[in-house]
Amino acid sequence: MDSLIQKIDKKSARLGVIGMGYVGLPLALEFCKAGFDVTGIDLDKKKIESINSGKSYIEDAADEDIQKAIGQGRLHATADFSVLSQLDTVSICVPTPLRKTKDPDISYILSATQEIAKYIHRGQLVVLESTTYPGTTEEIILPELESKGLKVGVDFSLAFSPERIDPVNKQFNTRNTPKIIGGITTKCTESAAALYSKAVDKVITVSSTRAAEMVKLLENTFRAVNIGLVNEIAIICNKLGMDVWEIIDAAATKPFGFMPFYPGPGLGGHCIPVDPHYLSWKLKMFNYNARFIELASEVNTNMPYFVVSKVSDALNARKKSINGSKILVLGAAYKKDVGDVRESPALDVIRLLKEKGGLISYNDPHIPHLHEENMDMSSIDLSNYSILDQYDCTVIVTNHSSYDYQQVVDCSSIIVDTRNATRGIISDNIVKL
Ligand SMILES: NC(=O)c1ccc[n+]([C@@H]2O[C@H](COP(=O)([O-])OP(=O)(O)OC[C@H]3O[C@@H](n4cnc5c(N)ncnc54)[C@H](O)[C@@H]3O)[C@@H](O)[C@H]2O)c1
Repeated sequence: MDSLIQKIDKKSARLGVIGMGYVGLPLALEFCKAGFDVTGIDLDKKKIESINSGKSYIEDAADEDIQKAIGQGRLHATADFSVLSQLDTVSICVPTPLRKTKDPDISYILSATQEIAKYIHRGQLVVLESTTYPGTTEEIILPELESKGLKVGVDFSLAFSPERIDPVNKQFNTRNTPKIIGGITTKCTESAAALYSKAVDKVITVSSTRAAEMVKLLENTFRAVNIGLVNEIAIICNKLGMDVWEIIDAAATKPFGFMPFYPGPGLGGHCIPVDPHYLSWKLKMFNYNARFIELASEVNTNMPYFVVSKVSDALNARKKSINGSKILVLGAAYKKDVGDVRESPALDVIRLLKEKGGLISYNDPHIPHLHEENMDMSSIDLSNYSILDQYDCTVIVTNHSSYDYQQVVDCSSIIVDTRNATRGIISDNIVKL
């Protein structure tokens, strides 16, 4: 019988992806494009139906790619985990959120692992892709998978390979973003590298699953801390009466030793505000306080309050208050051109403005409805920008590229621009962060 690596080389290996979200669906499609048969497993029946009927639900997966993969008989989605008994590899792409206490919630990883453990068999490769704290693969997944009597590195392989996807990034995608891989044993690393090298251009192996877990947390902590720094610089520039955007643009002309990060209304998305807390939580077990992470988090989570103070000042300058003013929030997504509101600072900005008595509406071409905790709103129609003159203030929270910012400026009474979306437009009704 062929070994796993031989099956991978011949493209006869049957692959599985658990969790068909922002990470899992593009990964499954990339495996299909590489010539493999892939089964996507998810608990969400709507996602299964959508995939099997050739319709995408995320920006980074095109309908045509799904339809092509289904037409070639390469892609199939199911909620039935028993299919795992026939799969040679399984990549786990389930969520890793935080609990309300900011402690890691690895329950999704656990439940996926328990399902895999029921069907684990000789020759199978299991790869965790979900972002998590160093030690998860070895301390949580490995004992569960070995509990059925099979031995890692001998009977089956286990590795960690962090997903690095950046939704709607036009330059870097699953294929051309290098992939880090660390296995429990050398054989595990080799098996995982053999698989991923068929679907991504470059694979980099590291010494262990812990090292691979830590690489991802360094990357995301680096972003969270640098964004925290630049958000603090925005507050400092504000106190000194300077334009932070001008300062960053000028500093970014230095060809070495400086990398521009930009301030904003706060962190959003499933990764940057969440992942560094996985690391600081782990370090608490060693009686160590990860100070940069905590400080950056403090600065970043305060940014929505800073935005609200800007709105308050802007209205005050026109003898108005937030209380009773009609305020339009432009953009609800956590970043431009995506339809994802997870951890979006727009939710905090809306909530805080409402608490102060503001009459808040929002528009987001990607998010028709906001059904969040204590929030049930629908996006207003912005096909005609003249509607903006009905509002006392427009707050740009997400800089979607579909907006016509000249029209936003021309039709709004005051604009609080948290993203420098109105860059290059000169008007005295623009207030920048
Ligand atoms: N979204 C990103 O930009 C991004 C980037 C890099 C890394 N990551 C990491 O990748 C992981 C997945 O993130 P995502 O954004 O794809 O999440 P997601 O919420 O978009 O998708 C996760 C999917 O897993 C499914 N699921 C949950 N529990 C399951 C289970 N037990 N069995 C089967 N399916 C299950 C959900 O129904 C959902 O469809 C997270 O750890 C995240 O931190 C995300």
